[in-house]
Amino acid sequence: MPHPFLCPWWLTWTFDNPVRRLIHDPQRIVGPFVHPGDMVADIGCGMGHFSLGLARAVGPSGRVLAIDLQARQLEAVNRRAAREGLQSRIETRAAQPAEPLPLPPGIAFALAFWMLHEVPGVDAFLAQVRDSLAPGGTFLVVEPSVHVGRAQFDDEVARAKAAGFSATPLTGIRFSRAVLLRRAG
Ligand SMILES: C[S@@+](CC[C@H](N)C(=O)[O-])C[C@H]1O[C@@H](n2cnc3c(N)ncnc32)[C@H](O)[C@@H]1O
Repeated sequence: MPHPFLCPWWLTWTFDNPVRRLIHDPQRIVGPFVHPGDMVADIGCGMGHFSLGLARAVGPSGRVLAIDLQARQLEAVNRRAAREGLQSRIETRAAQPAEPLPLPPGIAFALAFWMLHEVPGVDAFLAQVRDSLAPGGTFLVVEPSVHVGRAQFDDEVARAKAAGFSATPLTGIRFSRAVLLRRAG
């Protein structure tokens, strides 16, 4: 299935820059769901704003899988991780269009920040994330309110429920609509 829209690597800088930390503080947004030692995934990581925050949250014994379709994004993540001394905690993985996500089982927390609306096969994507989650694992989906209206977001949440997630709405993430998904059963 072709991509309806893929955020180009160069556009990412317009929202992933030094000001971002003030708007989207990773510690505040993902901190409550992550524990030291966890294996977590940042799916559609872009230039890695949240991958870096997750790496701090999981600590030296944890691991962050930073996954993206675009090699340029993954190069930026590796550069930033090295600059901040976090490279041993972050593993970049290239996703391929129309192929299963490079996700192992046992993920404690997965994040899809401002990316789900770019995925053409949402149902298959949700099923793959569900299957990769450890028991009790959670999946935070955050969408940009400027691109994803209420009806589209509600449709994404309905698809997540059909895929076997329970859904808890989250508020307080700026410029965004958010839901915390938990693998049901
Ligand atoms: C708008 S950017 C957001 C980046 C990052 N999550 C952030 O908040 O800074 C969306 C990213 O998702 C990636 N992406 C889109 N579809 C994807 C897929 N199916 N698998 C992996 N990455 C994907 C794009 O390449 C792009 O880097």
